[in-house]
Amino acid sequence: MCNQVKVTVPATSANLGPGFDCLGMAFSLHNETIFTKSDQLSFEIRGIDSHKIPANETNLIYTSAFTLFERLGKRPFPMHIQQNNNIPVGSGLGSSSTAVIAGLMGANGLLNFPLSKAEVLDIAIEMEGHPDNVAPAMHGGLVLSLMHEAGTHIEQIEIKPIEAVIVLPDFKMLTEEARAILPTAVSRQDAIFNCSRIALLLRALQTNDYDKLKISMQDRLHQPYRLTLIPGAEDAVEAAYQAGAKGVALSGAGPSVIAFAPENLSEIGNAMCQAFKSKGLESRQWCLPMDISGTQAKPISNS
Ligand code: HSE
Repeated sequence: MCNQVKVTVPATSANLGPGFDCLGMAFSLHNETIFTKSDQLSFEIRGIDSHKIPANETNLIYTSAFTLFERLGKRPFPMHIQQNNNIPVGSGLGSSSTAVIAGLMGANGLLNFPLSKAEVLDIAIEMEGHPDNVAPAMHGGLVLSLMHEAGTHIEQIEIKPIEAVIVLPDFKMLTEEARAILPTAVSRQDAIFNCSRIALLLRALQTNDYDKLKISMQDRLHQPYRLTLIPGAEDAVEAAYQAGAKGVALSGAGPSVIAFAPENLSEIGNAMCQAFKSKGLESRQWCLPMDISGTQAKPISNS
């Protein structure tokens, strides 16, 4: 039996402009969780934003592990959960998705891996309600994911290595709130606008054509509504382009903003930070390569 499992899950940036709820990319910034069978539930939470994460049975990693036990009809057993976090909470970098996947994969590991990654991902998508963070977090790279009558379709899209700078202003924006403000219906023009951009974006990323990114990362389904809620965000997008970015978008539901460029990423990040600062917000930035490994779950101790 497996007594201890280590699960490593990458950060993700969902939407990438026009790919609302269906496109996401994984980045090389990871949360690591070590699950150890124990005689009682306990937690050790380290790293970034650890004070924001509950160390009790409401912890999202634990509730996700519990969900997996229930799905498999197994009696949940107590465990020690050690979280080593590098992904900021509530940032638009998929930290809650990493928790859902870590919990599901950790429980799956402690049960000797009865489910495949694809089967675990289906449960994660159901829990999240949208697949665009959990799918790239599980598989790595650029992933297009969608729901259809018979289930989910996950398409990993092979692209050349790419890097981005992600700037996170010190501003609280809950994904639920950022979703609640969106209109439930869109015009035909806006639908065509986004369909055409996402097709061009995939082509641009596959051919490494940075010059197509600016047009192809435009969006009319969520960004126009969300950007105005984040002080300095519209200026940050503009500042990034002025500093040489090739494509810029809100990362997930925000508040972070992601910019792609072949060079000068930290200068672009500095320009974005300055735009937020002029609206009174401090920010942090990360220059990150795309992650291609996705989630890793490995037993580290067996009995
Ligand atoms: N597609 C989701 C949204 C991502 O934009 O609400 C949330 O991280």
